[in-house]
Amino acid sequence: MINEIEKHPLVLHHLTRLRDVSTDASAFRRSCAALTRVVVAEAAKDLRTESFDVETPLETTEGWRVLGPIVFVPILRAGLGMLESAIETVPGSRVGYIGMERDEATAEANCYYAKMPDLESASRIYLLDPMLATGGSAAQCVDQLKQRGAKEIVMVCIVAAPEGIALMKELHPDVAIVTASVDRQLNEKKYILPGLGDFGDRLFDT
Ligand code: PRP
Ligand code: URA
Repeated sequence: MINEIEKHPLVLHHLTRLRDVSTDASAFRRSCAALTRVVVAEAAKDLRTESFDVETPLETTEGWRVLGPIVFVPILRAGLGMLESAIETVPGSRVGYIGMERDEATAEANCYYAKMPDLESASRIYLLDPMLATGGSAAQCVDQLKQRGAKEIVMVCIVAAPEGIALMKELHPDVAIVTASVDRQLNEKKYILPGLGDFGDRLFDT
């Protein structure tokens, strides 16, 4: 399942700022954080909740809480730009880290780091990566999450390419994808078009 939320006015505004080559790193970070709040709220729409009695200053009424544990797994580096907004939006969440780097010549992803909380007991795992290009990084991460017992995984992105969506559909059809935008295609260097360039470089000003 692919859920694209490009028509939301805040998404249009902040996505445009990310795409704009003249946006500097601090403005890029702010727009990344703002977009992440919208995309994560969309991805959290079907989280399970339970009701309980809550005391207002005036009387007792029905309250609700999200049933956790919810785990966010940012893919290093670029996923770090989404992490703080994500865990603020879904309180009480846990965090796992996974490091993936694409070889610049072949665009093939290689895992260099992984540190996870217990995934078997998690009611939902959100994989955070702003860019889904060939899908190689995301597909490998999902393999690792599943090997550690993850059941309900949702991929949360900012820009996704049709090629990456197709690979995820082929290898992990059970993983829903929520993205701010589905862009046109990859170029010969496997960058997304129109895209926004190298997300990690723009976020960290490298
Ligand atoms: C970028 C991006 C994704 C990956 C997507 O990371 O953050 O993780 O590329 O590409 P794919 O779908 O073709 O695998 P990169 O490898 O540039 O590492 P970085 O985040 O450390 O810059
Ligand atoms: N990773 C990025 O940061 N940008 C792209 O366009 C593709 C992969």
